[in-house]
Amino acid sequence: MYIAHTVDELRAALAGRSRPAFVPTMGNLHAGHLSLVRLARERADTCVTSIFVNRLQFLPHEDFDSYPRTWEADCEKLRAEGCDILFAPRETDLYPEPQVFKVQPDPQLADILEGEFRPGFFTGVCTVVMKLFSAVFATTGGGVAVFGKKDYQQLMVIQRMVQQFALPIEIVGAETARADGGLALSSRNGYLSEAQRQQATALSRELRQLAHATRTTATPLRELETQAMQALREQGWEPDYLTVRQRSNLLSPAADTQVRVNAPLVVLGAARLAGTRLIDNLEF
Ligand code: PAF
Repeated sequence: MYIAHTVDELRAALAGRSRPAFVPTMGNLHAGHLSLVRLARERADTCVTSIFVNRLQFLPHEDFDSYPRTWEADCEKLRAEGCDILFAPRETDLYPEPQVFKVQPDPQLADILEGEFRPGFFTGVCTVVMKLFSAVFATTGGGVAVFGKKDYQQLMVIQRMVQQFALPIEIVGAETARADGGLALSSRNGYLSEAQRQQATALSRELRQLAHATRTTATPLRELETQAMQALREQGWEPDYLTVRQRSNLLSPAADTQVRVNAPLVVLGAARLAGTRLIDNLEF
């Protein structure tokens, strides 16, 4: 596996290769990331993974400084998975000067859910992803990029960004990898003790129950959502939201029960357990 730190090194390594498949990450790789790398390898002859902890998408009180950085272990895992090129820019390579130009996503999509609780998050994500796409794809004429469905809203924001800017990049969404008990794999699970990880399975359980109740009862959605949040609170969580949305635009579905029975929906949740904020979702 070749390691490129600068955009020039990356582009030189990509010269003469066919269109690559790209997996952007912030490192601290787990089985979920590696499943994205596997998917990327199936989609192209050249697989590029990036590791970059992007300051722009963290609020001042969030965990940018303590975000787990596990360089050696990450390199080993990527080598074992057959990744061809690792792009690992230093902060000064990607942001040699203050990033004053930003990619501002559609507020209707980006200011709800995660964007409501983490203002500016998707601007930070879109800005770095645009820079990473430029680094990886500008000289290859495009390619494929793989994102996990665990970050459901992020995947949707990136899909819209690629569509609006007509970028020659196919976005592939990969299913969420889960531990036994249903806990979605996440780098932030590392902040939890073993006992807390067991406790954390409640998030996916409550999402599943909320999805089930949405399809099988006529109780107003708001009520079901409030009950699900209360159930989590009683198990020691501080939920930000647990909510049922339309898959197409992440807006609430119409109150009409018939719509609730048939529409393609997704239930999304974000909640803090012992200070660690976890997110999850389930399409149904
Ligand atoms: O999902 C992530 O790990 C990050 O948001 C991403 C896409 C690598 C951008 O920093």
